[in-house]
Amino acid sequence: MSERFLTYFAADVAALMALGARLCPLLKTGDVLTLTGELGAGKTTLARGLIQSALGTAQDVPSPTYTLVQSYELSHYELWHCDLYRLAAPDDVLELGLIDMEADIVSLIEWPDKMGGHLNPQALNCHITFKDGGREVVLSGPAHWRSRLEGLGI
Ligand SMILES: Nc1ncnc2c1ncn2[C@@H]1O[C@H](COP(=O)(O)OP(=O)(O)OP(=O)(O)O)[C@@H](O)[C@H]1O
Ligand SMILES: [Mg+2]
Repeated sequence: MSERFLTYFAADVAALMALGARLCPLLKTGDVLTLTGELGAGKTTLARGLIQSALGTAQDVPSPTYTLVQSYELSHYELWHCDLYRLAAPDDVLELGLIDMEADIVSLIEWPDKMGGHLNPQALNCHITFKDGGREVVLSGPAHWRSRLEGLGI
């Protein structure tokens, strides 16, 4: 059962990255964060904000468009940033090792629909849409996320 927790308006790239930065300390090993929205919505931008807040802004955070997975050793967890847009079939996600590793990492997954039934039902979803020249982000997922998201301070 998915609940809608909050709606956040990001007027510009910096505001969208700031939401990612706020999410970073709330996550722990085993968490799955899905990023949805059409091409160019800002999924990678939000992921970049989250990752760079932990690594420092000097570090490049490329889109995993072609590699499908980029992994990062952050201070409190290992994080895999995945872009499944080019996944040909849901079962191909098994070859990436994402399912085997899921319990030991934090997964940030763009285009999660591509993994079909392999997607963890406990995932928190950030859905991004175009609005008023910026972006609107809706966070939704299973009820247990509600209390954790209070730490966002939004
Ligand atoms: N809040 C915002 N307001 C205006 N423009 C934004 C905002 N956030 C991101 N953008 C712009 O929108 C684009 C988003 O690109 P990004 O790669 O993050 O999208 P994506 O959802 O990951 O796309 P893809 O589906 O191709 O992976 C970038 O050009 C970025 O500069
Ligand atoms: Mg992207």
